[in-house]
Amino acid sequence: MTKIALGVSSSISIYKACEIVRRFQEKKFKVQVIMTKNATQFISPLLFSALSGQEVVVDPFEKALSKTIAHVSLAQEISLLCVAPATANIIGKFSSGVADDFLSTFFQTVKCPVLIAPAMNEAMYFHHPTQTNIQRLKAMGVKFVEPEEGYLACQEEGWGRLAAPEKIVEEGLKLIKISKSLKGKSVLITAGPTREYLDPVRFVSNRSSGKMGYELAAEGLSRGAEVILVSGPTQIMPPVDAELRKVQTAEEMEKEVQACFPRVDVVIMAAAVSDFRFPNVSSQKIKKRELKSVIEFVSTPDILGKLSQKKAGQVLVGFAAETDNILKNAKEKMREKHLDLMVANDVKQRDIGFDSDYNRVSIIDSHGKVLKTEKMSKREISQIIFDKIEGLVGK
Ligand code: CTP
Repeated sequence: MTKIALGVSSSISIYKACEIVRRFQEKKFKVQVIMTKNATQFISPLLFSALSGQEVVVDPFEKALSKTIAHVSLAQEISLLCVAPATANIIGKFSSGVADDFLSTFFQTVKCPVLIAPAMNEAMYFHHPTQTNIQRLKAMGVKFVEPEEGYLACQEEGWGRLAAPEKIVEEGLKLIKISKSLKGKSVLITAGPTREYLDPVRFVSNRSSGKMGYELAAEGLSRGAEVILVSGPTQIMPPVDAELRKVQTAEEMEKEVQACFPRVDVVIMAAAVSDFRFPNVSSQKIKKRELKSVIEFVSTPDILGKLSQKKAGQVLVGFAAETDNILKNAKEKMREKHLDLMVANDVKQRDIGFDSDYNRVSIIDSHGKVLKTEKMSKREISQIIFDKIEGLVGK
């Protein structure tokens, strides 16, 4: 029987959590309830124990439980952490890394999907820090079931009412399905810029930060895929479970990509590969007086272009960084490189794209159909890209 964890925090709507337990059980899930200390003021843990048939966890230092249950081992057993109802306080703790009770500590250890159903007064829900915390968690890949409008406990009408239990459970089941959707598949992702050296000190490069590629890698992993991340130099942490291959130049990137290509199902070229390199790389620093006033460049290999000639069933996804005629240029590149999907973005806009945590993209499929996204976190963009890729894998 698959196990899920239900985190319950202190909202008046806590009584609805009982129905959530029941509905997951009807779908044949074992439910481990975790309550915050304040939640136990509303309902006794005994009620959830009786319903779930499992001892409820509240305090990480409880003696009776410490031998049998630890936040790390439980995290490995579950296929979903659903937090419903979630207060502004627990959302704030998750978002900022506070770990001062079992639930907030547990959140930091889980690798499975996390679903949060907020419930609070309208003013609290729309309070700037709460919204910022929700956005931050979404950017980490956490999913939300938005609260509804209606009668609230504070005797007001407004937003903030816990979503219906059936909706929460339905979303939870969807997430569990997505978390296995690419099991057994291999995804190769390139990220970041390349550096083309003139000598040991000087190079040409570009503004890519690698964030888009790293978020794609995290999303691929969260869907159960094996992820190979071929990365140019970046300042960010790669997802721990990705197979990281660090490179500097376009030629090194090509070597790694070609070596992995036969064993992967999907290639996403999110890297901003330099189109030019210096013909020769000096092994010693060139003295200023020896530098020519005109320096020659030669072309680097078109990695993606070459892959399309060798393609044997792999899904090829390209990125087009454009400043004008975005869709036209992206569609042309897509045709030239025989791609299955092309993700185009406007790199002229300062608040998105290069070095930003956000992006706004147009995703073009092989029939020329375009899906335009809103400005959203790169993780959320990755989710949309992977939804599209899933429809193409194995076809
Ligand atoms: N790309 C590649 N090898 C290169 C250059 C680009 O594999 N030498 C890949 C990029 O990773 C991206 C796609 O090709 O997925 C499009 O990259 P882009 O630089 O926008 O296009 P180019 O073909 O280089 O065209 P241009 O620079 O003229 O816009």
